[in-house]
Order: sequence, then structure tokens, then C-alpha cells
Amino acid sequence: MSLTRRAALAALAALPLAAAPALAQTTITIQHPLPSASHYGAGAAALKESFERATGGRYRVNIQRNDNEREIIESVQIGTVECYIGSTGPVGNFVPAVRVVDVPFLFRDYPHARGVLDSEIGQQLLAQFQPRGLVGVIWMENGFRHLTNSRREVNGPADVRGLKVRTMENQVHMRAFTTLGALPTPMAFSELVPALQQGTVDGQENPIPVIVSNNLNQVQRYLTLTGHVYSPGLLICNPAMMQRLSAADRAAFLEAARAAQQANRDKVTADENSGVEELRRRGMQVVTQVDTAAFQTALAAAFAQYERDLDGALLRRIRDWR
Ligand code: PAF
Repeated sequence: MSLTRRAALAALAALPLAAAPALAQTTITIQHPLPSASHYGAGAAALKESFERATGGRYRVNIQRNDNEREIIESVQIGTVECYIGSTGPVGNFVPAVRVVDVPFLFRDYPHARGVLDSEIGQQLLAQFQPRGLVGVIWMENGFRHLTNSRREVNGPADVRGLKVRTMENQVHMRAFTTLGALPTPMAFSELVPALQQGTVDGQENPIPVIVSNNLNQVQRYLTLTGHVYSPGLLICNPAMMQRLSAADRAAFLEAARAAQQANRDKVTADENSGVEELRRRGMQVVTQVDTAAFQTALAAAFAQYERDLDGALLRRIRDWR
């Protein structure tokens, strides 16, 4: 290399790095109430991967855990957190029309629930969020809820009588447990384990993926596969944040939301397939044969009340959906 060329290179190397135009990066924080290895964690991770890739690093998705769902929704409403992934548990307190999907024994199985929520019925319910200062982006999934407790084996509705059961902050669920003669105690998920340890409540109800991912077997001995209610999940976001996205970025966000929904449902399916065996292995006593008709009969008064308080025509449409 010539002396002049070497000198020129040395001079170049000595130059302060020309300031590259700073890449403006916007952070979107998503909070959900479960461990990262859970079905919500899987959904959030898929959304992050898809959206960050599609927007070439202009957006960063920050995933945080907060096991108080009501608190997350309040934060999304005021805009201190951009998005929520969680159950419909407390959502009816913000968007009352959503309470209809919390009715016990409304959905027959996973294909029924997913089919209804992906249909125009689900879309119409998501449209109810905007007037309440929230955007219902897409339905996610928590799963069919089952009863656990530390007192006794539950074989039928009579065994539920007198049990102190933690429920979500959800009027529809509380009415069902009151009708069964239990003592429903609504509280945030963050308070559940201490309440079970201290005996403030005897039991709780949650889907298999939640019981497994939170090791609830450590504080509960008996599990009955009541499947008494399907627990839908949701991705809810702040309207101003959605508004700020360009049309192309919004399309990328919706694509990422679909990826999140798929990953979330796949994880629920996988946990459902292996979860009960896993909980048995961890020492839980599991009742699998449940007289669903007996539970439905015992809930007759609650069903009559739902018909009066909620949209009865919509309840029938969902029940009859094929
Ligand atoms: O029981 C609840 O509060 C919910 O099912 C949970 C565990 C927070 C998941 O949405």
C-alpha cells in the first residue's frame, strides 16, 4: 500500500464516526398476568417476534408480567401501558356487553368457542370496546375452567356447597357459585396463592394451563374437571397507540395479533393434552368423570337470571352456533 494511501486510511480512521441518523424506536408495552412459559407468554412472544420483524426495528415490544388483570386494563385505558393480554375476567366491568361470553356451559368445546369468537359474533363484541376507551384487537384464549380445592373431592354440585371459592372479579361467575351454594370471593389473581395458603379461601377455578404454569398443585389437593365455563382471552390495546400506527404498521400489528392468537391457542391445546397427567404426577387427586347435567340443573336459577340481565337473543345465537 502506498504511503499516501496508508496516510489517507489512517486519517479516515481517526475521524469521529459520522453520526448515523438515529433510528427512532417506539416501545409498545404488553402486560399479561402469567409466566412467560404460559399460553399468554406464547402469544405475547409471537406478537413481539412478528411485529418487530415486520417493522424492521422501528418498534420494540416490551413484555411484562402483572398478575392483576383489572389493573392492566385500567393502565391500557389511560395509556400508561399499551396492550393487555388476559382473560375476560374483569373485562365486563369495563365493557358490559362482553359478560355474555362468561356464562357457564355456554360453549360446548374448543372448536365451538373458537368458531364463535372468530365469527361476526366475536367481531361485533370487539366493536363494543371503542366507546369504552379501549380497542378489542383479537380474541385470545385462557381455556375451560375447572375447580380445585383443599378440602374434599368434588363429585357433584352438592360437594361445592359451603366451599369458599376464589373467583375472578366477574359478576357472571360469582352468580353461578352463589347459586351452587358456594361462597364466592372475588379477588385479583395476584392475591390467590396467599389466600389459599392462609385459608381465606378453600378453592379456586382456572383452566389446566393456568393450574400447571402456576404450580397451583402446591396449594391445592383436589381437582375436578368441571369445565364449568370457557374463559376467553383478549388482546386489548390503547386507542391512541393504535391511532398513531401508520396504515402499513397497523396492518403489520394485526398480522402479529393473528400470530399471537395462533401461538396462544396452540399452547392451550398442548397444555390440555399433557396437563392433567402432569398434575396427577405432581400429586393432585383428579376427578375426571363429572355429571355436567347435574351442574347445569343446579344452575337453573342462574341461567334464568342471565337471560334477564344479559342479551338473551345473543346467548341463544351462541348456543345454537354450528
Ligand atoms: O383466574 C384468573 O384471574 C385468570 O384466569 C388468570 C389466571 C389471571 C388468567 O387470565
